[in-house]
Amino acid sequence: MNQAAEQFILARDLDRPEKLEEPQLRGDKVTADRYVSREYTREEWRKMWMRTWNIAGMAYHLEEPGDYITTELAHESIICVRQDDGSLRAFYNSCPHRGTRITSAEEGFAPKFVCPYHGWEFNHAGETVHVPDEEDYPQGSPCGRTRMKEVRCDILFGLVWVNMSDEAPSLREYLGETIVREIGSYGMDKMVRVLNMTADSPCNWKIITDNFNEAYHVQTLHPALIPYIETDYRKCQFDMMPGGHNRGWFPAHSPSSLFEGEEVHEPLPSIMKEWGLDPEEYKGEEGIARIRGDIQKAKREKWREKGFQHYENYADYQFTDYIIYNVFPNSVITVGPDGVQLLRPRPHPSGDPGRCLFDHWWMVPEIEGRTHTPSPAGGPDLPVEDAEHEVIMYGEKTLGTTADEDLSIGKLQQQGLASAGFDDYYLANQERRVLRFHEVLNDYMSG
Ligand code: FES
Ligand SMILES: [Fe+2]
Repeated sequence: MNQAAEQFILARDLDRPEKLEEPQLRGDKVTADRYVSREYTREEWRKMWMRTWNIAGMAYHLEEPGDYITTELAHESIICVRQDDGSLRAFYNSCPHRGTRITSAEEGFAPKFVCPYHGWEFNHAGETVHVPDEEDYPQGSPCGRTRMKEVRCDILFGLVWVNMSDEAPSLREYLGETIVREIGSYGMDKMVRVLNMTADSPCNWKIITDNFNEAYHVQTLHPALIPYIETDYRKCQFDMMPGGHNRGWFPAHSPSSLFEGEEVHEPLPSIMKEWGLDPEEYKGEEGIARIRGDIQKAKREKWREKGFQHYENYADYQFTDYIIYNVFPNSVITVGPDGVQLLRPRPHPSGDPGRCLFDHWWMVPEIEGRTHTPSPAGGPDLPVEDAEHEVIMYGEKTLGTTADEDLSIGKLQQQGLASAGFDDYYLANQERRVLRFHEVLNDYMSG
């Protein structure tokens, strides 16, 4: 549980993440039922969601005994609470008397939990410790006989995780050594969540995870990224890991090889100047090709004087590149040099397969002298402080240009998948992480 003592260090001179051995794909058909069927959605809950590890929230909300957070996944709500001995435990948010949700708050401090219906009281360990009219129970006092039902939980990367299955592997085993070491090297346990938005969105949650399991759509849907990040699949690297997790590596701080132009656009010149490089010296094909490596070198030399403590253990590629970790089933964790995004679709509480809750979190390190950080959701810079949770309906407000572009397709794809004209996915090799995701989902569904 003690994150601070842990060090995750990669080799310094890595130009990209280590290429992993590819698992054998079966070529399962991906048909529409998994996106549109209520029956499938119910089965998916029981066979998959109840057996996988999911992110519940930020560990820094749970510092003192009695500090708690709640997290919602489909119709379920789980309370995670810091114990009096410093450990962490989690419970279903359901009263053992007649099932009422015990708390509606997303976070807070409770000396004890009190059910709002008949006033049963529970300690931090979930034990029933007081009920009104205790003598009126012919079967014996509920105290000592009933309790809030427990859920497994753990903390890693400064995040709280929960799992509803007693049989599932430990969180670290579930994620695997590569993910634990690589995401761990970003020091997320010292970051603050400065954006916390949720959009009630008109598509199945898997349409969004599929989208983040491939970058094939970038050249068509997000052309604005071409001047800044590699979008040519031949220059990126895609890896699949045991357990259904995937990784995509995208060299950045340099235009894509699909870029046509003699000089680079903002934000690159500003970033180059910030690290002491003169954009005038990086023109034409030859100049542009040197930018990424020179930014890495400049950051390696100057991070300490600029107070970028979070760079301390970075490998070369981590100074410039973006890596998407698709943690099975739905935690899409995108890391860049100066922050981590969680883009996460959750199944909808209504059970409607055509809707999901899409979360957008942005977590950044605290850098001395920096009070604000650019927002990945567009709009003004965000203060570097814990953000309030904002919940919107899709379309009410922007989630950021790139996320808006992705979600606009989500709705169209949900509609088209329900058509009698659709049979099954016809996937490119660069979309193999999508297939891998569905094959692992199929493994859960077949038990
Ligand atoms: S349902 Fe909770 S006290 Fe009655
Ligand atoms: Fe996208």
